[in-house]
Amino acid sequence: MAAIKFDSSGLKNFVKDNELDEIKDQVRFAHQTLVQKSGAGADFTDWVNWASIQTEATLAPIHQAAEKIQANSKVLVVIGIGGSYLGARMAIDFVKSPWHNELVAGKAVKVYFAGNAMSPMALDQLDQVIGDQDFSVNVISKSGTTTEPAVAFRFFKQRLVAKYGEEGAKERIVATTDAKRGALKSEAEAEGYQTLTIPDGIGGRFSVLSAVGLLPMAAAGIDIDQVLAAAATAEKTYSSDDLYENPALAYAAYRRILYDKGYTTEILANWEPSLQYLSEWWKQLMGESEGKNQKGIYPSSANYSTDLHSLGQYIQEGRRDLFETVVRVDHSKHDLTIPKTGSNEDGLLYLEGKSLEEVNKTAATGVVLAHVDGGVPNLAVHVDRQDEAGLGELIYFFEMAVGVSGYLFNINPFNQPGVEAYKTAMFALLDKPGYEEQSKVYHERLND
Ligand code: PA5
Repeated sequence: MAAIKFDSSGLKNFVKDNELDEIKDQVRFAHQTLVQKSGAGADFTDWVNWASIQTEATLAPIHQAAEKIQANSKVLVVIGIGGSYLGARMAIDFVKSPWHNELVAGKAVKVYFAGNAMSPMALDQLDQVIGDQDFSVNVISKSGTTTEPAVAFRFFKQRLVAKYGEEGAKERIVATTDAKRGALKSEAEAEGYQTLTIPDGIGGRFSVLSAVGLLPMAAAGIDIDQVLAAAATAEKTYSSDDLYENPALAYAAYRRILYDKGYTTEILANWEPSLQYLSEWWKQLMGESEGKNQKGIYPSSANYSTDLHSLGQYIQEGRRDLFETVVRVDHSKHDLTIPKTGSNEDGLLYLEGKSLEEVNKTAATGVVLAHVDGGVPNLAVHVDRQDEAGLGELIYFFEMAVGVSGYLFNINPFNQPGVEAYKTAMFALLDKPGYEEQSKVYHERLND
């Protein structure tokens, strides 16, 4: 049974039935292009059937690495950025909790993320948080040369060596990187770190179901076999090229229809703080895949009800170029009954004894109605539970949708040429060898 349900009923005032019909052949073609690997960037589409080809043997190194970390460490520091970071963080929050490190139980270890910023304060404070606890490091980088994780890795390697000695440190480093190439691969081979492979045919933002996401998940106590089983089932659930049978295609189609009507910003909204990183992961997936050739929907996010007290005004009455996709959890892992006091001093007597989960859901329904009335088209993705099954299917749903969506925009959804521009400017200003020409130009610009 599918763990997620797609609901487009919040589009009634915005999209007519015939509009979906009009785009269905384009969507069919985009889907066929994706699964037949005949489109732009086809070399990076192995994620389409990655989960279903995993076996006990292919997963054994990941399980073994997680068990070793759990046996000798209390903490795993996961070093990576972008696609080498967001998936694991999203997964741990989603299945476990944003408070995983405080609530950690059983064999699971605490998982902290580093190397996703340049901030000295972040690194220094994480160092203090780890304190005397035994720790291991999983450094994740396909290229091995990405500045932020490479810098963080230097710090944590130094710390490992200081605590465990040269040989002991090597035993506590797992490098997740390219199978053959790159600086991290060479270093791992020279130093004898255990390595896990980032598959050639899967780009960073689609890599959460490879070792990139699976090792941190397994170390945190998530059942990665179940996540992959759910994603493998999703491969079948979302295999039809008919958008009336395949909700991922319907989602891609509606997004495109809305874009053509001027709704160029999508807000991925949630009603659970533990889904905040789902949105962060999704923003990279959508933004880096679609934002090319001056096209693409701008992916943004909102965390409700928190952001109703900050962004709510804009969403209700600001520029009408927004649409909203709300991820709704049908069965919360926790529920609480609002305490009875018999007093109405806080005006809450009418809620006494009610389930907080029901209040949260009712608030979500009310907000959809208000936003639709305010001119914000609404889509919903219902996930049954925040468990491994829900996670595996949700990942596949969004990946499939953006692959198709990219081809509907007639761009290559699997490259990211635009991310190089900032690196060139940064390296030039930092006087990186090889950037001498650009260094001159950029320094001169600053001196103008
Ligand atoms: O999706 C992507 O390709 C990027 O977000 C990369 O994952 C990110 O830049 C990190 O790159 P690397 O894994 O080479 O360090």
